[in-house]
Amino acid sequence: MERYRTIILGAGAAGLMCAAHAGPDTLVLDHAKKPGEKIRISGGGRCNFTNLDVTPANFLSENKHFHKSALARYTQWDYIELVSRHGIAWHEKTLGQLFCDGKSTQIVEMLLAEMRAAGAELRLEVAITSVSHADGRFTVETDAGAFTAENLVLATGGKSIPKMGATGLAYDLARQFGHDIVTPRPALVPLTFGDHFAPISGVATPCRAFNERIAFAEALLFTHRGLSGPAVLQLSSYWREGEAITLDICPPGLLDTLKAQRQTQGRHALTTELSRHLPARLVEFLAPDLGLSGNLADQSDARLAEICAALAHWTLTPTGSEGYRTAEVTAGGVSTAGLSSQTMESAHLPGLYVIGEAVDVTGWLGGYNFQWAWASGVAAGRAI
Ligand code: FDA
Repeated sequence: MERYRTIILGAGAAGLMCAAHAGPDTLVLDHAKKPGEKIRISGGGRCNFTNLDVTPANFLSENKHFHKSALARYTQWDYIELVSRHGIAWHEKTLGQLFCDGKSTQIVEMLLAEMRAAGAELRLEVAITSVSHADGRFTVETDAGAFTAENLVLATGGKSIPKMGATGLAYDLARQFGHDIVTPRPALVPLTFGDHFAPISGVATPCRAFNERIAFAEALLFTHRGLSGPAVLQLSSYWREGEAITLDICPPGLLDTLKAQRQTQGRHALTTELSRHLPARLVEFLAPDLGLSGNLADQSDARLAEICAALAHWTLTPTGSEGYRTAEVTAGGVSTAGLSSQTMESAHLPGLYVIGEAVDVTGWLGGYNFQWAWASGVAAGRAI
């Protein structure tokens, strides 16, 4: 039996960050071939590693206060300093989102260097078979032998992208040690509509996607399977099966613009004139449902107002979501009710910590999920 002070399960964003702060005599175990695989594929290979504008409102959790403490004590500025210290060049893309200029593997290399400098050890391709606790120590049984430590950190993430090795291990172990689990669900995920939007697959347009809880003004993308793009991905985290969503795709000031066009371009087809403000394929797709026929001159003020209102209030009920197969994150997870917001330590079992996506804290699209992984990892690492 190999003895350590701390064992961290999961060499992803949160686990590696925690290892860099947990000090020597720390072992990180992962069943994957390589550490930080989600970091590698994130942000289209450039890792959107944080956001300039991190506020508690950018996160979902059953307890909307839980994440405040860790995020305040390890901020985006701390991470930017770390990245800059390692000579990793970065840029702001949009909406405060920071990406590497080069490859996201630079972030993985940086975390591995920090972890090694702190004296932590990493073992990959290790299958965890069971975890137990007795006499103040955790024992982790694996196909590479048994390991024991006084601290155990659950950092195996959520269920998103099972093809990459995501499992519900953190939930199972937390439950085993008396923690409640907020039902996990796919988040930041495309919503499906059968093949309804297949004819306009690939069309994108600015949009305000909303429900009674929240609204996101970002791009909308039609796909073969349904709706995607940042606006819908963001809204999906606040959507439940069976609920409707509403899209406002009406360009600002469209009614007045169409009235003005009617003076000069009245003999043009309504669809042609609308296509000056919305993608032509989308206008063609909507034409039968919205009754878009005739010339612009044929449309009364009331009729134009009706068309604009329909574009501003397009209510649709998704058949479902693409699920964990493509979801960027998993919402829900280990309930914050049983964890310390300062240290991420279990209130039920001293020495047990849960960090990262495994916790019921989910960020918006835009670097927020990594910032939570860094901040919660540091909170636990410093406490250990
Ligand atoms: P993470 O999933 O990173 O790590 C968990 C580790 O545990 C993995 O190494 C896994 O192999 C291991 N593991 C799982 N089960 C195990 C088991 N049973 N036994 C042993 N090991 C096990 N966020 C963001 O802020 N900016 C972005 O640009 C992106 N982009 C992005 C793209 C894509 C395609 C995805 C899927 C996700 C993102 N994200 C993101 C989200 C982000 O990747 C995610 O929130 C963090 O990686 C979560 O960090 P964790 O360390 O908690 O889990």
